[in-house]
Amino acid sequence: MAADPGAAESPPADRDVFPSVLVIGAGTMGAQIAMVVALSGRTVCVTDIAADALDRARAELDSRMRARVDKGRLTQEQLDDAFARLTTTTDLAAAASDVDLVIEAVVERLEAKRALFAELDSLCPTATVFASNSSSFMPSQMADARPDRFINLHFFNPALVMRCVEVIRAPSTAQQTVDAAVAFVRDIGKEPVLLDKEIPGFIANRILNAVRDEAVSLMENGVASVSQIDLACRTALGYPMGPFELMDLTGIDIGYLIKKARFEATGDPADAPARSMSELVAAGHLGRKTGRGWYMYENGEKVGEA
Ligand code: 3HC
Repeated sequence: MAADPGAAESPPADRDVFPSVLVIGAGTMGAQIAMVVALSGRTVCVTDIAADALDRARAELDSRMRARVDKGRLTQEQLDDAFARLTTTTDLAAAASDVDLVIEAVVERLEAKRALFAELDSLCPTATVFASNSSSFMPSQMADARPDRFINLHFFNPALVMRCVEVIRAPSTAQQTVDAAVAFVRDIGKEPVLLDKEIPGFIANRILNAVRDEAVSLMENGVASVSQIDLACRTALGYPMGPFELMDLTGIDIGYLIKKARFEATGDPADAPARSMSELVAAGHLGRKTGRGWYMYENGEKVGEA
């Protein structure tokens, strides 16, 4: 997938679409999505049930964005302005009371998302549009509260860098909501990729999953090590990183939960999470964020195969 590290810093053309945004969930995705929105000139609030998750998100954004200033990609003033527009709170009710768009980026569990949108329906103004950053669940599975004002906006990791945002409408989504979402995505410096009909996993993750399944199968069958499979993908196929390196970046638990959800929906054994992935998740080796996944990491740097 092509990366455009400068995209998030493009000047906005029109800030009228969704000038005030609420991001729910201060994980890697939520934090970086919020910063992209703040850089576009909008006000953005990030909420999480855990105050320490908010502190971690702020600290991570701070060091990542400071590096951008040091590299001359952003002025200190632009960064200060963006941080001045970005607030954090654990008080969902207060944060939801006056926003134009909610972007949900919580754990990839359908019931958690559905419960959250039901609660938001009673907290947000009636005009507020609800969006989910789900990796796999279709909008129609979450849209009950606001059928015409619900859409999926699927960002990619790392959200500060990756240009694509998949825009997925439910059959009930109003055209006005789709048009506003597409304009918003363009205006925050990303490339909207519009699906004509919903399908679990959308476009990019379905293609990625096929590649990942083959990579894991080659490894489990003893054909080659994870580093050699990654090397082939980088040097033969021009991937910026191999499938195992990418799983470590996005979180092995994320890919595992996506496969688990698909398996639960289809019952097809081919959709079940691979044995080696299940073992890593059970052992808590989730990738870069835990210091160990398919590879080992020290101070954020890869130091060898696990
Ligand atoms: N967070 C934010 N920014 C990051 C980052 C991270 N984790 N990792 C790297 N970057 C930034 C760097 O700071 C650098 O910015 P700069 O140009 O301003 O200096 C820029 O990205 C390039 O980084 P590097 O030079 O260190 O390294 P690379 O050139 O290898 O790029 C990469 C890193 C952008 C992550 C690249 O390897 C890449 O594109 N990898 C593939 C990512 C991908 O496929 N993502 C999709 C995953 S699937 C998904 O997200 C779906 C979801 O549902 C699970």
